Parts: sequence; C-alpha cells; structure tokens
Amino acid sequence: MFERRHLLGLEGLSAEEITFLLDTAESFKEVSEREIKKVPTLRGRTVVNLFYENSTRTRTSFEIAAKRLSADTINLSASSSSAQKGETLTDTARNLAAMRPDAIIVRHPSSGAPHLLARHVDCPIINGGDGAHEHPTQALLDLLTIRSHKGQIEGLTVAIVGDLLHSRVARSNLFGLRTMGARVRFVGPTTLVPSHFADLGAELVSDLHEGLRDADVIMMLRIQRERMNGRYFSSLDEYSRMYCLSGEAVAKARKDVIILHPGPMNRGVEISSTVADGPYSVIMDQVTNGVAVRMAALYVLVGRRRGIESSGEDTANEPVPLRRVAAAE
Ligand code: NCD
Repeated sequence: MFERRHLLGLEGLSAEEITFLLDTAESFKEVSEREIKKVPTLRGRTVVNLFYENSTRTRTSFEIAAKRLSADTINLSASSSSAQKGETLTDTARNLAAMRPDAIIVRHPSSGAPHLLARHVDCPIINGGDGAHEHPTQALLDLLTIRSHKGQIEGLTVAIVGDLLHSRVARSNLFGLRTMGARVRFVGPTTLVPSHFADLGAELVSDLHEGLRDADVIMMLRIQRERMNGRYFSSLDEYSRMYCLSGEAVAKARKDVIILHPGPMNRGVEISSTVADGPYSVIMDQVTNGVAVRMAALYVLVGRRRGIESSGEDTANEPVPLRRVAAAE
C-alpha cells in the first residue's frame, strides 16, 4: 500500500511501502517483454521530465516508462528551459503546473529541489536525483534487481564502494536496504566515507578487501568529480589502485555475489572491464528493471491515485490491474 502524493526519497518509507512498489514493478516487467510494449493505463495523462542535470539512463527510462503506460511525455532540460533566462525553479514549476501535467519528474543539482516543487505544485513530484541527497527510483531498481537475484533482501550483506560522500544513490540505497533488513557496508577512503553515515546504520570500512569480505552484493559507485570541490585523494591513478573492483577483489565476496553499478561507469577507475562484463555483473538487469520501477512509480502516483480520487474508494489493496488492462486491449 502506498498512499503518498509524491516520491521524494526512500528515507521514512516503510518496508510495506517499499515492498508494494517492488511488487508493482514486478508486475510491470512483463509489458516490456511484449511485442507491443504498451498498456493504456495512463492514456490522456501528461508526464513532464524536468532535468537540470545531465542524464542518459534516468531520463530515458522515465520517458520509456511513461510511454509504455500510454502517457504523453514532455522533456525539458536546463539548457532548453527559461532557467537560462534567470527564471527560478519555483516559477518554472508554477508555470508548468498551470498547464496541468499529471506528474513532474525532476532532477536537480541542489538537494531539496523536488521537495520545494512539491510545496508549490499540486501534481505528484518524483525525485529523479537531487544533489547528493536522494535518488529513490535508482535505489528501488537496485532493490528489485537484488530481490530478483537473491529471492529476498533481508539478511544480505551489501557493500557499497567508492565516492559515498557525493552519492545520492548510496544514500537512497542505505535507507531502502536498512528498512528491508540488509546489512550495509560503506567502503572507500575516509575522505569519501563520512563518519556520520555510521549514525544512519552503515558499517564503515576503508580497506576494499576487508569491505568485500562475505558480501552478497557489491555496488560500485563512480567518483563524482562534478560535485567535488576539494582533493579527496592524491590522484585518480592511486584511487583506482586501491579501490578498482578487479577479479581478485571480487574473490573476497561470497561465491554467488552479484555486482551492481548505477552507471555511468568509468571503466578502469572504479571497475575493471572484466568484472563489469563478467558473470557476476547484473548491471544490464538494473537498467531493464529501471523501466519497470518507473512504470510502477507513475502508476502508483498517477494512475492508481486518480482511480481512488474519482471513485471515492480506496483500492489500495487491489493488485495491479494489468491482466484486466491487457484483456481490454
Ligand atoms: C547516478 C546519478 O545520477 O546519481 N546515475 C544514475 O542515475 N544512473 C550516479 C552517477 O551519476 O554516478
């Protein structure tokens, strides 16, 4: 059951809410395997992608998800919006809201930008990544990928390695994984693994091999140079000598370990090509699951909610009506 108006982060979501989103995503996976990859669930609805930062996967994935649900999609980037002419984010959002979209997905370099929008517009807001704060749909697709490969999340040991300090992916994963009962280890140089993460329930380890010991899941992160304004290690070369995930490092983890990376990958810096393309890698599954997770988020916030509001009934416990939708086609 998920009764919230927006999806701004995983912090504070309950295990039931996360499970509901994952189960809904699971039921949407099949649509992408059809020859005609479309269901009429969001026909007549408009979804705006408002992206103030570069993105390949997230923006495309939201757009494909919305289109597979038959919604109309509009893409706005910082360079093509009036932000270039000095308009504030709130004014841009108010103007967009005046055109009555049914959802706005926002990615922004400032933490809290989607929360600000949520206070100024009356349609659902989905956080597509805000600064170094949260990236909820990325963490949900990671959870879905982990759950499909491991059967469950509870009890697993997940090592998240690299630039934790600047990573919204790591933060959202920490909240989601802890809520679902996993152990989370943050692994990286002390300059990139802030000690306050321990207060949120992560174990902090600076040695790569020690951090990977008996891990069920390894998640590698990119060095986010665009968010760095200081020196966190002496050179990229030195960083990769200590933290690049090689076959030898993977051997410290469990035999059935799976390896995730949110992308974009910097091959040879945080992950070797042999590992990225090797048998333990589930990186492409993550991308595939991303579409299902975003279909689920849009359905739950837009399609399902409209149903609840117009019928006056709470249909929260009903399964996703995909079978009915398919039958009606
Ligand atoms: C991440 C992001 O933008 O936060 N990528 C993504 O959404 N797939 C991670 C990154 O940029 O390193």
